Amino acid sequence: MPTAQGYSRLHIALHWLVVALIVPQFLFNETIAEAFDATLEGRVADPGVLGPLHVLCGMAIAIAVVWRIALRVKNGVPEAPAAESAVQKMIATGTHLGLYLVLLLTAATGSVAWFGGVETAGDVHEAMTTVLLILVGLHVAGALYQQFVLKTNIMDRMRTPRV
Ligand code: HEM
Ligand code: HEM
Repeated sequence: MPTAQGYSRLHIALHWLVVALIVPQFLFNETIAEAFDATLEGRVADPGVLGPLHVLCGMAIAIAVVWRIALRVKNGVPEAPAAESAVQKMIATGTHLGLYLVLLLTAATGSVAWFGGVETAGDVHEAMTTVLLILVGLHVAGALYQQFVLKTNIMDRMRTPRV
């Protein structure tokens, strides 16, 4: 993968779009969960407005993630700040790749559950959202550690486009 000067405007926009779409997925998922339970039990499901919205946001997240992976492959990503130790670099890269993988698996298992009526896929979907929360926590803690302890000004990478 090539090394870039920094993230592009589009890459930065997609990063914050995914953040903005993930928050409601965690705050407003009761309607789809209830509708899913109802379907499994053979009752009439009422997904209301929030049910389809959960599906749409989930799909949009998946599209944005695939787009970002394509941008990473095409343009590359900036090197880790020099202040990071080899272990910290490994953790950061692992977290980034883990976030992509888990986001795609979350969207995929949600789709299999919802469109296929597969209970196990729903269980895996729930488990994936827990893993996602842990990875996001690690990622945000890392970003704040870089910004305020190592003082690498890392936040500027996700604010100011360089390419
Ligand atoms: C990456 C995007 C997504 C995120 C972050 C996400 C997040 C969540 C969360 C936090 C829950 C509640 C889990 C719990 O109660 O512990 C949930 C439930 C659910 N989501 Fe998603 N979701 C995403 C994409 C999707 C998609 C694309 C679909 C369908 C096409 C979907 C269908 C469902 C269903 C059916 C449930 C209920 C599962 C059950 O009760 O077993 N989700 N989602
Ligand atoms: C749902 C939440 C989030 C997800 C899924 C996420 C995902 C990612 C991923 C995958 C990268 C790697 C670069 C890329 O390919 O885009 C990245 C970079 C970055 N993120 Fe996030 N992020 C989230 C939230 C945040 C938040 C809340 C902050 C700020 C506190 C943040 C700050 C950064 C910074 C500064 C980088 C650049 C790191 C570097 O170049 O080494 N992210 N993010």
